[in-house]
Amino acid sequence: MSEQDFNGKVAIVTGGGSGIGEACALTLADRGAKVLVADLDEDAAQRVASAIGANAKAFVVDVSDPVACEAMVKAAVDTFGGLHIAVNNAGIGGEQSPIGSYSVEGWRAVLSVNLDGVFYCMRAQLPVMIAAGGGSIVNMASILGSVAFPSAGAYVSAKHGVVGLTKAAAIDHAAQGIRVNAVGPGFIDTPLLAALPAEMIAALSDMHPLGRLGKPEEVAELVAFLASDRASNTTGSYYTTDGGYTAR
Ligand code: NAI
Repeated sequence: MSEQDFNGKVAIVTGGGSGIGEACALTLADRGAKVLVADLDEDAAQRVASAIGANAKAFVVDVSDPVACEAMVKAAVDTFGGLHIAVNNAGIGGEQSPIGSYSVEGWRAVLSVNLDGVFYCMRAQLPVMIAAGGGSIVNMASILGSVAFPSAGAYVSAKHGVVGLTKAAAIDHAAQGIRVNAVGPGFIDTPLLAALPAEMIAALSDMHPLGRLGKPEEVAELVAFLASDRASNTTGSYYTTDGGYTAR
């Protein structure tokens, strides 16, 4: 296999307009995929699709809306003729409060995007992939899919849920040629962290034995491997790329 793993493949990347999703969209396209760059933010999706060129199309989606997720999959099929790869990456940080005072609205907001959204995306993607004889799905979890973090209960719960949902989908659809895996990045230098003060970024960096935040491109490299046929025996798994965060 060459670096052009994705020649002839069609991919959807949700949250493809920024950060990790942007890096995934660019990496998959660079290796031959046609990419639907799906994001809530139209300008962001358009910017990334334009950077890729003719092999990409921007699509506005709210992954917390199951009907919109169906429309997203239809757009990929109508535009590029199929669907082989999905990177279900869209996510939000959400409210920061201890569980005892976490608002119900804040809980619902995070769960609806970060967990329900992944279910709605896969529910729409799987029938099309199954009909085509197979596919590969990579769901964006987090290190907080396996450990907790203070005042981030909704996010931690949603990401643990993504890991479980990934395993469930993997065993349900393995016989149909579908692989489903989850990725757990440590803290990554993206706009999601832009609101944090510099001292907080420095403290977060120190929590990673490598001594720095990760880069979106480093996450995209793992996603691209899992999405590709190189990972043909890998399904139902959760892989961290976290600078050693969860090792200590
Ligand atoms: P980001 O904020 O840079 O990008 C997220 C993108 O998702 C944005 O373009 C946003 O418009 C889009 N989005 C938000 N809600 C959406 C919705 N309802 N429907 C469709 N698109 C929506 O964030 P980043 O850092 O690139 O995060 C991407 C994923 O990686 C998220 O699932 C996040 O939880 C996860 N992650 C991020 C880490 C980090 O430290 N940055 C660490 C571990 C996981």
